[in-house]
Amino acid sequence: MRKSVHGQWSSRWAFVLAATGSAVGLGNIWKFPYITGEYGGGAFVLVYLLCVIGIGVPIMMSEILLGRRGRQSPVNAMYTLALEAGRSPWWQIIGWLGVVAGFLILSYYSVIAGWALAYVFRTGSGMFGGATADGVQNIFAALVADPERLIAWHTLFMAMTVVVVARGVSGLEGAVRYLMPGLFILLLLMVGYAMNTGEFGRGLSFMFRPDFHALFHQVDAAGNEYFTWEGVLAAMGQAFFTLSLGMGAIMAYGSYLPAHASIARTTLTIAGADTLVAILAGMAIFPLVFANGLQPAAGAGLIFQTLPLAFGHMPGGDFFGAAFFILLVFAAWTSAISIIEPAVAWLVENRGLKRTQAALACGALAWALGLLTVFSFNIWKDFTPLSGLELFRDSTLFDLLDFLTSNIMLPVGGLLIALFAGWMMRREASRDELDLGEGAAYRGWRILVRYLTPAAVLIVLLNLLGILKV
Ligand code: PHE
Repeated sequence: MRKSVHGQWSSRWAFVLAATGSAVGLGNIWKFPYITGEYGGGAFVLVYLLCVIGIGVPIMMSEILLGRRGRQSPVNAMYTLALEAGRSPWWQIIGWLGVVAGFLILSYYSVIAGWALAYVFRTGSGMFGGATADGVQNIFAALVADPERLIAWHTLFMAMTVVVVARGVSGLEGAVRYLMPGLFILLLLMVGYAMNTGEFGRGLSFMFRPDFHALFHQVDAAGNEYFTWEGVLAAMGQAFFTLSLGMGAIMAYGSYLPAHASIARTTLTIAGADTLVAILAGMAIFPLVFANGLQPAAGAGLIFQTLPLAFGHMPGGDFFGAAFFILLVFAAWTSAISIIEPAVAWLVENRGLKRTQAALACGALAWALGLLTVFSFNIWKDFTPLSGLELFRDSTLFDLLDFLTSNIMLPVGGLLIALFAGWMMRREASRDELDLGEGAAYRGWRILVRYLTPAAVLIVLLNLLGILKV
């Protein structure tokens, strides 16, 4: 089997760590709680979990298998695999879509990770000692109102990302091996704290008792409720985003995977760890929301407006708070690296750039795009270019970028990946690569990627057209 020019993981376990590092990030701790809050809780969580199992797992297996068989950046891997299977080279569009999605995602990801960086210092310096809900909200509002500060933190985070990407993938095994368990333990501690807020039960029932009415209804400008699939689309988009699927990140990492690692077991480990972290984050945050009279639908600032309340009141809160945000920054860091890897790997393969140059070039572009997000929270916060459509009535540029990437580009990419793995590749090729034999597991995967997964993604995406009412 070919080996990738970019190197190879030292073992299956190293790949599991790196891919988990990619999956676990802001998506789990920042985004999952805030969109769960926006779409009303339990029913959203249920649909999200179904999407992880029925769409995420089969697509992750497909991405890893395509990456490992293609052994190159997603653009070139898809080209090679398409030719190998006797199909149109146009399938490399999967790789290109991913490259574009990567720039867009990293642009805002870095800005939000910058908030987490800022919070390391805010919590560490005791700023939240004895804080009230109002005080915490004001501190957050003051941060995002200041474009210069946001740009400074965004720049720092992007620089951190470029440095690691420049050095290549193998540098990050250690970070994930030690820091991920640390993050997990701190989350458990936070859940333990949440248990004593007095509203733990209410937090749990918000997250786990499905309220389908809340998922399927929104209120329009005139205050009238209307039926919408928006929440289902968001739940599916979140499944893609949190598992790093649909844009080649996992495919790129898969291309560095040793030949004899089990793809199925690997996938289950990664998806399981990722889901667990998200659920724990929700369990830590929602009880705090209710105990402090906050709104679950507060939006993108939710964790920054809730967790500091806990840190401000628990013994040793400054320390734990700073530690928590440091670990969150690390989680975001290991994700950011994977978001840009498809573009960097392509530049190295096709343009002959050194990794350092490629990383710098990609980082610079994503940084510049990130300014759109920075300004969405201050000077352009009332700039809602698509407000003519009900769905985007209050959407800032950041909201639109997030919607375009998570809810459209990643699902479309995932759909094409499933179709390619299920219909375009020769059966023997996917069977050998998955190495599951001819048993039920292989047949189950194949039925999913051929029929059920594409159908599910397509149905949800097509409903987008219905959502786009003016
Ligand atoms: N999965 C990452 C997170 O949850 C984000 C990500 C998206 C990473 C797409 C890679 C590709 O934070």
